[in-house]
Order: sequence, then C-alpha cells, then structure tokens
Amino acid sequence: MTFTRMDESTAEQWAVIGAETARNQGRVADRVLLLLRSLGEITDGFATDQLTHCLQTATRAERDGADDEVVVASLCHDIGKAISVPNHPAIAAEILRPYVRPEVYDMIRVHQDFQGRHYYAHFGGDPNAREKHREALTPEVFELSERFADLWDQTAFDPSYDTLPLEHFEPLVRKVFAQARM
Ligand SMILES: [Fe+2]
Repeated sequence: MTFTRMDESTAEQWAVIGAETARNQGRVADRVLLLLRSLGEITDGFATDQLTHCLQTATRAERDGADDEVVVASLCHDIGKAISVPNHPAIAAEILRPYVRPEVYDMIRVHQDFQGRHYYAHFGGDPNAREKHREALTPEVFELSERFADLWDQTAFDPSYDTLPLEHFEPLVRKVFAQARM
C-alpha cells in the first residue's frame, strides 16, 4: 500500500519509488527516440524535415570527430521543436542537462542565437545575437557553440547529403541517457 498524499509518505515507500524509477531509466532514451521520430512530421518550409536535419547535424558532428555527448546533443538539438519552435533550444537543453557535461548543455541552450547570424535579420532581430553570450560563456564553450552552429547545424539541410539513419545513433542515445548526473 502506498501513500495518497505526500505528507503521509514513508522512507520505505520512497525507497520503492526510487528503485522503480531507476529500473525504468531506459524509458528516457525510448521517449527521446520517440520525440526524434516525430520530428519527421515537421518540415515548416525547410528543404529537409526536422528529423533529417537533426540526423544530418549529428552525422556531420560524428564525422568531424565530436565526442559521444556532443554527437547525441547534436542529434537532439532541435528536439524541442516537437513541442514548440520559439523556445525549442531551452526545451532541448533541459532534456539533455542531466546527461551531458555543462559545456554541451550550454552549446544547445544558446544555439538559436548562434544560428541567428543567418536569419534573425529577416525577422527584425540582431544577426550578431551570439555576441551577447560571449561574456557569459568561457572562450572554449563559445568556440564549441560556434563549431556546432557554423559547421554542423546551419549546413544540415541538404537532402542529397549522405545522412546516417536514427538506428545508427540509437546505441549512443541509450548510452548517454542511461545515467543521470543529478
Ligand atoms: Fe538545427
């Protein structure tokens, strides 16, 4: 018998909940893969759907020798678009946060402002929006964010590119989301 209100809960009941939650950790990777697949339904005027764009971003990162966390973050960087485009970087960054080092979290958190170089001006925004992050980020994180945006993300809308399939990245997704750090 477990509690119906938290102020009546016991240590033993929380031990069961903790163990069950840990046992079901694989669900996180399942849900991430489900959300990624759903991006195949979203195109919004781009030359590729958003799943292909994410796969291509991750493929480019992997081929440039990025480490596992950066590759998985590249794959998931637009996962927030499955829910809402305007705040998608924050959604993606928070999904990744417990599973990647802080630098990789920051890279995803700021990625829209780095991409803004190519389109913010068309919407009345500042194409140099990335510069507002220069103070807050270390030079290393700023450089990683530039590498991500300029080499992998903004170039990943090419339907003729040899993009790796989601199945290729699935083991890496399961590995990175297997253990939360917080
Ligand atoms: Fe993107």
